[in-house]
Amino acid sequence: MTAAHPETILIVDDDAGVARLQQRWLEMAGYTAIVATTGDEALACVRAEGIDLLLLDFRLSGIEDGLEFYARLQGEGHTQPVILVTGYADDATIVRALRAGVRDYIFKSVEYLDYLPEACRRVLDQVRVEREREKAQADLRTRTEELRATTQQLWQAARLAGVGELAASIAHELNNPLATVSLRIEGVLAKTPSDDPRYKALEIVQQEVERMAGLVSNLLQFSRAGRDQVSTVDVCEEITKTIELTEHHMRERRVRVELTFVPGVPTLVVDRQHLRQVFLNLFTNAADAMPGGGRLTVWVQPAQLPGGVPAVAIEVADTGAGITPEQMIHLTEPFFTTKEEGKGTGLGLAICRRIVHQHHGTLEFESTVGVGTTVRVTLPVRPDPNVTGLRIEPPSPL
Ligand SMILES: Nc1ncnc2c1ncn2[C@@H]1O[C@H](COP(=O)(O)OP(=O)(O)OP(=O)(O)O)[C@@H](O)[C@H]1O
Ligand SMILES: [Mg+2]
Repeated sequence: MTAAHPETILIVDDDAGVARLQQRWLEMAGYTAIVATTGDEALACVRAEGIDLLLLDFRLSGIEDGLEFYARLQGEGHTQPVILVTGYADDATIVRALRAGVRDYIFKSVEYLDYLPEACRRVLDQVRVEREREKAQADLRTRTEELRATTQQLWQAARLAGVGELAASIAHELNNPLATVSLRIEGVLAKTPSDDPRYKALEIVQQEVERMAGLVSNLLQFSRAGRDQVSTVDVCEEITKTIELTEHHMRERRVRVELTFVPGVPTLVVDRQHLRQVFLNLFTNAADAMPGGGRLTVWVQPAQLPGGVPAVAIEVADTGAGITPEQMIHLTEPFFTTKEEGKGTGLGLAICRRIVHQHHGTLEFESTVGVGTTVRVTLPVRPDPNVTGLRIEPPSPL
């Protein structure tokens, strides 16, 4: 006989005669029905899969009753619906069964077999509707999550653009007066003998002005839009030169530097100054993360960006303090810094991120607190002429 219903029902009853009767009735209604006369046998059937519904006799022989069997079924994580078929159960037992998750119950009355297929249909339909609803809800959750992520990216981009404009205007306003102050101080200092009581104070003013000039130059760098001078650049050479610049800083901090250039790294078409800026920021951050000394490893190798785009990957790894997951969320936001006041502007990584994205590359971070941090910059060998503008990408752990 061809089954009119695609579902398979497992009848669990220790009375083989009763079980066969139920089986026949269900088969006549178009179901596939199989029989198990002990709890173990029934569990074996369920484990073998393909069972959509269980008809469970309340009083199985042996030590367990239907509810104990049901608990075993749930304990193994099986989620098929169960209908309790009972000749004896009192109200309290039925309530207990329904609370435990049994879908329905049927009394073995005189004509119960007539109701059996209908009861099965009802429960199976109920379960199908519930599963569809759960799937729809899961879909909705995924969509909501996607929407939330997109909104956050847009918000970040808007904020970045806003900060960029603000930074540019402030920096331009500050640049000229700062240059004047700097020059004047230098002049006054040159004319002041070093044993003059005012000399120390003037020196402090000069240092502070220099720090302000540094901040302004960072702001200007950050707000500069578009690529300026693109040329063919040897990344390994740029890294070596940038390391030379920071050598004093590294030695002072007892940071050992190891450079590994994998042979066959192609030259890049990039803005050389911008690239140096990225490396300088990453090296400075790494050194700052290792106040008690450590190892800075730079690794350069050929790589690929999504879509098979030929690229070069630069990994900058330190053995420093590491970045907490909470810090990771804000890492590349402008003005996010954990350094003491006056030490960091919090623009270093925001600048890196902007430069890397302008070159259509990616910037990734991997960090373990107390172990160290690896920053990976992947840059395409040639800029893609079809892609324009800033690509938005939140900081992502590797
Ligand atoms: N290699 C690293 N190890 C641990 N923390 C890091 C590392 N790189 C960056 N950070 C964290 O990220 C923060 C932001 O870095 P970012 O370079 O943007 O700003 P900054 O170094 O604080 O200031 P600036 O670079 O503008 O002088 C740092 O203050 C630090 O907390
Ligand atoms: Mg920095």
